[in-house]
Amino acid sequence: TTKILTDKFNRQHNYLRISLIEKCNLRCAYCMPANGVPLTPKHQLMQADEILEIAKVFVKNGVDKIRLTGGEPLVRKDFSDILKKLSKLPVRLSITTNAVLADRFIEDFKKYGLNDINVSLDTLLPEKFNMITRRDQFKKAWENIHLLIKEGFNVKINAVLMKDFNEDEINDFILFTRNLTVSVRFIEFMPFDGNRWNRSKLVTEEEILDKVEEFFGKEHLEKLEDERNFTSRNYKIKGFKGQFGIISSVSNPFCDGCNRIRLTANGRIKNCLFSNHETDLLSALREGNDLEELISNSLHKKKKVRAGMNSFEKLNDPKKHSNNRSMITIGG
Ligand code: GTP
Ligand code: 5AD
Ligand code: SF4
Repeated sequence: TTKILTDKFNRQHNYLRISLIEKCNLRCAYCMPANGVPLTPKHQLMQADEILEIAKVFVKNGVDKIRLTGGEPLVRKDFSDILKKLSKLPVRLSITTNAVLADRFIEDFKKYGLNDINVSLDTLLPEKFNMITRRDQFKKAWENIHLLIKEGFNVKINAVLMKDFNEDEINDFILFTRNLTVSVRFIEFMPFDGNRWNRSKLVTEEEILDKVEEFFGKEHLEKLEDERNFTSRNYKIKGFKGQFGIISSVSNPFCDGCNRIRLTANGRIKNCLFSNHETDLLSALREGNDLEELISNSLHKKKKVRAGMNSFEKLNDPKKHSNNRSMITIGG
């Protein structure tokens, strides 16, 4: 990566997460406020060509991995067109999706080399799924996860854990990795605007590991080597085909190795998931201004840990995250 994508702490940002859309076909409570988010007028959202133009600037400066997010990226009408355009860039393409529409895109994923598919699924129980997502789509999501695995995609399942809601399913999720080459990642619930986070709803990395050790036995648990720039610390149960991981952004952040920069659907860069500081690249592109300088300035302002939310007190203060967006318009 060039200087432009290197921050003050010498972190090299080679991973761009692009949110394609603010809409979603589900309504998860931890991701969006109950009455939704005000939708950005269409002309203020990036068009397919604009996404490509902006992505090119990042790739020229060292980005070699792009993840498509949302809202739900597959809801975007011109998704295949965008994928086709991005597939011409020398990057590893990936997506984070709820999988409800995934069966319609299997051929496109293959044709355009999108192999890494992370699927959000917080429960293995249809009734609970309906409660958390407020939509009756468990069957479709479940079938599509199996379809994606069968078709040979690299599938990771993301489960956001919440106290008294799905923490009792941790070991069932791990049992799911017994015969399938899939990775299940447990995610600590994080605070964003409108999602009514508080510390008491958090299930921590430590609590998760305790439950796993108790159920499977410590001697059957194997710690895997951390990946470069990881979000999840990974483990497996000896003899199981798949593995599991824990994403502990709240209790044990991994910001030292952060290599991510985000582009929102309305063309703003965010230098951190928790930062409310945004830089408008889309307007700059439309006005013919230099994007590199803006990107560089944005990364120069990046803080060391969680945009400065470096304590539970700060995370617990709704004023701190109400200046940030709702997760549905960040894309994770
Ligand atoms: P891989 O590219 O497969 O490693 O996926 P990922 O973990 O980077 O992305 P994914 O979209 O699957 O996100 C899984 C969880 O990790 C979500 O809850 C994200 O919000 C969280 N996450 C992703 N990137 C970051 C990050 O840069 N910082 C923090 N704190 N959390 C992140
Ligand atoms: N805390 C942690 N993870 C979240 N996600 C959405 N909202 C939150 C939250 N408040 C996850 C989704 C998706 C990923 C991109 O981010 O489940 O898998
Ligand atoms: Fe990077 Fe911010 Fe996530 Fe930390 S919280 S890993 S700095 S995006």
